[in-house]
Amino acid sequence: MMHPETTDNPFDVRDRVVAFKRAMAPRRAALHKAFGEVTDHVRREADRIQADAAAGRQVIPEIAYADVRDGKVSDAAVATIRKTGCAVVRGVYPESLATGWFEEVGAYLDDNHYEEREIEKRSLDKYFSALKAGKPQIFNVYWSKPQVNARQGESLARTRSFLDRLWKYEGAFDPDLQVAYADRVRRRAPGDKTLGLSPHMDAGTVERWIDPGYQRVYASVFAGDWRGYDPFDGKHRLETEEIPSPAVASVFRTYQGWTALTRQGPNDGTLRLVPIAEGISYLLLRALEEDVPEDELCGAAPGRALGVSPEWHADLLAAQVSIPEVMPGDTVWWHTDICHAVADEHAGKEYASVVYIGSAPDCAKNRAYLPRQKEAFLAGRSAPDFAPMDFEVDFRGRATLDDLTELGRRQMGF
Ligand SMILES: [Fe+2]
Repeated sequence: MMHPETTDNPFDVRDRVVAFKRAMAPRRAALHKAFGEVTDHVRREADRIQADAAAGRQVIPEIAYADVRDGKVSDAAVATIRKTGCAVVRGVYPESLATGWFEEVGAYLDDNHYEEREIEKRSLDKYFSALKAGKPQIFNVYWSKPQVNARQGESLARTRSFLDRLWKYEGAFDPDLQVAYADRVRRRAPGDKTLGLSPHMDAGTVERWIDPGYQRVYASVFAGDWRGYDPFDGKHRLETEEIPSPAVASVFRTYQGWTALTRQGPNDGTLRLVPIAEGISYLLLRALEEDVPEDELCGAAPGRALGVSPEWHADLLAAQVSIPEVMPGDTVWWHTDICHAVADEHAGKEYASVVYIGSAPDCAKNRAYLPRQKEAFLAGRSAPDFAPMDFEVDFRGRATLDDLTELGRRQMGF
């Protein structure tokens, strides 16, 4: 989840959008038919999802870490994860450990006067002053000991291996080893209304149509065969080339995800998901309909997250649901093409805190990120994909090389 606001974009891609649409023109009838079918599918799914949610039935699949560890996850659960593109894996870390981490992160931020420093930085810096005012809810720290420990845990590694094995990974990536991808911490205060994120997908916007790598990923969809598209096929995923931007991760993530440090439920300003793995087909085909201007893609803009809007994508948004209540030590995962949002208001009474940790499997593209990230770790700077706020350079209690386990060192590329 990374999408700081960006300002003027130097990349004008309108010519490439027009060229792509003209190349698709001979298929227009087939694409229109496919869009009609996928719309029907999304509507039926949305109806079922909302009916299930209203009846208190499970919508986002939930599995126990103990079953992952023991190889006992049912075929039915696996099928549901593939179908929804989402999963809650419970009890990856003991509740007491995760609760301790929450307190430790709080002490780390307090001891080092994080809030005052961020507010001071915002007032001095033109870029950051454009960000929403108010107390921070997402903390730009990457190297607290709890974050480092959460990333390198054996149980988390096993969970990611299980999830990455749901992909067709042969020739693309190693499902049994992930690289570390340092991200930030959410500590959302009760009552906060500043953090909401509107529905979006990460990992590229216009690229999903105009980049040759993405055109191969979505080849079936662009051929009008949306049923033939497999969201879990890793074959061309590492060939995509994203337009460089602070809104786009430079690693390939099979899933975005986080580990809960506190209890949080549907009213606590937490994550909302559209649990339809094929939802991306609807989005891709919608932009190719005749009512969309030839040089536009339903609002997709370079350098931003890919917005999913009521104006263009109402059928998909109708399927949006909150994640179920999670406890400290539970983890949440969503496939790289899954639409997600953060609720506008935290109406609960306690902090809602998570450490962002997705799955970036070992492969050449992801390994290429490690040298810069290693340097940032050693110096306490912000991780290379993020705004260079570098708060932790002189923070007391930051993790060091001595805090890395053998697995942690491998994941970091030491
Ligand atoms: Fe996101």
